[in-house]
Amino acid sequence: MKVYLTTPLYYLNDVPHIGHAYTQIATDVLARYYRKEGYDVFFLTGTDEHGQKMEQSARAAGKAPQVFVDEQVEKFKALWKRLNISYDDFIRTSESRHGEVVQKVFKKLLEKGDIYLGEYEGWYCTPCESFFLPSQLDNGKCPDCGRAVHWVKEESYFFKMSKYQNQLLEHIRDHKDFILPTTRRNEISSFIKEGLKDVSVSRTSFSWGVPLPEPVFRPGHIAYVWIDALLNYVSAPGFMREEEKFKRYWPADVHLIGKDILKFHAVIWPALLLALDLPLPRTVFAHGWWTVEGEKMSKSRGNVVDPWKVTEQFGVDSFRYFLLREVAFGLDGDFSTEAFIRRYNADLANDLGNLFQRTLSMVERYFHGKVPATGKVAPEDEKLRFKTEELPQKIRKHYEAIELHNVLSQIWDLITLANRYIEETAPWKLAKTNPERLGTVLYNLLEALRWLAFYLSPFLPETSEQMNRQLGSAGLKSPPVWGQIMPGGTIRKGQPLFPRMEKQ
Ligand code: MSP
Repeated sequence: MKVYLTTPLYYLNDVPHIGHAYTQIATDVLARYYRKEGYDVFFLTGTDEHGQKMEQSARAAGKAPQVFVDEQVEKFKALWKRLNISYDDFIRTSESRHGEVVQKVFKKLLEKGDIYLGEYEGWYCTPCESFFLPSQLDNGKCPDCGRAVHWVKEESYFFKMSKYQNQLLEHIRDHKDFILPTTRRNEISSFIKEGLKDVSVSRTSFSWGVPLPEPVFRPGHIAYVWIDALLNYVSAPGFMREEEKFKRYWPADVHLIGKDILKFHAVIWPALLLALDLPLPRTVFAHGWWTVEGEKMSKSRGNVVDPWKVTEQFGVDSFRYFLLREVAFGLDGDFSTEAFIRRYNADLANDLGNLFQRTLSMVERYFHGKVPATGKVAPEDEKLRFKTEELPQKIRKHYEAIELHNVLSQIWDLITLANRYIEETAPWKLAKTNPERLGTVLYNLLEALRWLAFYLSPFLPETSEQMNRQLGSAGLKSPPVWGQIMPGGTIRKGQPLFPRMEKQ
């Protein structure tokens, strides 16, 4: 009954933007869901603090690398707080608890014969911290980011990745959930079939990294930043450090990442784990990328979406909602203020907000704000109850497949049905003709809303709390059972959950 979830470790030379926030929010939704379901959840995030790029950025800022990263990391932590990211651990690759494990791993692989000394000669892209063969370049530029590459020739240790090619292919073939979405799985299998090369895993031309322990390693080598960073997924839960804890959480259940770093996570990382005789993670899930008003997001274009600004304008929960509802999780998406406002008004202000406000208003008007007693059950009541009670089963399947957009659409089906239930039962007419029936209808609506508050909480944690507060005695926190609101409890009609937004 454990779930171990990870995000990538973010590079600290950038300010956190919508792309980083996206992975954080998606992982947070999974963590909150599994916690509510009673799992022992370990949600890990952190920062990637070593490497040539970081050393250069620190130099450009006139600071020592450690001072630079110590300042930068606070920007990420502050944003995660703002976005209500409920991580359990935050690992920084410059921490000693991590560096020690990196050193032990290198030693172990050297002893095993899976790391050997050689010389690296080829191209290097510093922004991507990636090595490329001449044949991989795109018009002489980095094939991933299009920026300039430079020639590197240095003594280097290599990891025998080629040795694990077949084992990895078999694993991918036999574990359909190992790489998701499925299209990504095919992409990785074809890449591996072209033949895996050994990878350079140390650098000597600069020093900001984890030093490889002497005398077993030659002096002057530091761990290649990607190997260093990937190892966080085992160092944080305690590999070679706190074996009890490590056994409890490893293997990871989901490594959530962006599509651009899939090869590192679905090829190099599992090959390293095979070399370490560790079980492989259950799933590596690669999500898509956000563009902004149809354009690639970049500092030079000046169109980088700042989550602070968006959430100041529209609120944290609506930002979380928009990102996970607007696109099928796994595909690319486009961010625009217009699309944001459209979705906000349609789904949050109208569907959810109105359902909640209308129901509470009627309980206030007709029953002085007290939960009414429920009477005889009609077929439409049963339909609402049935739809509500089947929600947990329906969303579970989608959570397992990490189809977060489908979780939301299931929840919205219930919201739609509840709104239809109001139209069909017309409580304002019942108020004049049949108060007992009116009580039953409002009771059922309050009950459905209590369930909604519960199942919306991973996505909309603040709204869910507000709903629970306003539902008063109706807002129970535990997994719901139908019919537990106590008649006579007090509800509080407050401000609308999502006031309508005007077009900008
Ligand atoms: N440090 C490495 C990861 C090491 S994990 C052991 C790294 N860092 S990063 O800061 O450059 O990127 C982190 C994540 O942000 C990646 O998953 C990447 O896909 C994501 N995104 C960056 N820009 C993005 C968008 N425009 N849209 C969605 N996600 C994007 O890579």
